[in-house]
Amino acid sequence: MRKTFLIFLGPPGSGKGTQAELLAKKINLPIISPGDLLRHELELDTDLGKEAGPIMAKGILVPNKITNKLVAINLIKSQARQGAIFDGYPRNMNQLKFLIKKLDKVANEDNNVYGVYIEVSDKEVKERLGGRRACDCGAVYHLKYNPPKIDEICDTCKKKIYIRKDDKPEVIGSRLKVYYKETKPVLNFWSKKEKLIKINGEQSIEKVQQDIIKKLKQRRVID
Ligand code: AP5
Repeated sequence: MRKTFLIFLGPPGSGKGTQAELLAKKINLPIISPGDLLRHELELDTDLGKEAGPIMAKGILVPNKITNKLVAINLIKSQARQGAIFDGYPRNMNQLKFLIKKLDKVANEDNNVYGVYIEVSDKEVKERLGGRRACDCGAVYHLKYNPPKIDEICDTCKKKIYIRKDDKPEVIGSRLKVYYKETKPVLNFWSKKEKLIKINGEQSIEKVQQDIIKKLKQRRVID
């Protein structure tokens, strides 16, 4: 059976999470997002959450041994029998090598493994993260572009939404630096293999989603 593994790439705030969520509903694949998994650990106040929390608040990467392990566990847990969507992973060359090794066991040349790169400028990143509001259930809003139906309340779980600690302007700067230094080489890897689907992320949420679907269909990744 042909499997589909899509790796969403792009700077912080480019819309990876938003788009991964919309696509997952449409093509029925599980999402593996270390960012969401780590925030869940943080919320539960586990040892892992205690270790990762201060690192995430600084906008730098959590050690590879933690994220790689989380991904390996969740690949099994999510029963990625038909594939999976990775949101925010791999983010450096160590993680990329780890994932390729993992996928080697389940994916071969017949399978669809693509990077989906959502391109947005640094200026747009700052605008988006400045207005972002998050919920513990994983839902993401933007005060201007994607507000909740009721002010400050999550549409899905009705909890109060909040500003992520790493969405402060000084932290956004260091997240962008980490992205250019660590994650750009991952992007270049997929590009050299001609397995990178580039999407103009500076369009409405709906238009970005339509472009992703159009390009995945063109490559026969989805029907
Ligand atoms: P993570 O949660 O993965 O953060 P990120 O990659 O920085 O990405 P974001 O979640 O900030 O943004 P996004 O691209 O998903 O955009 P979103 O859809 O929310 O990681 C957080 C931290 O965890 C890291 O800094 C690190 O410490 C740790 N971590 C995670 N993964 C790791 C790994 N692999 N290795 C090591 N450490 C790791 O959209 C942003 C906003 O814009 C929202 O408000 C949204 O509503 C809005 N929006 C989205 N699309 C549009 C649009 N088209 N037009 C207008 N607004 C839009």
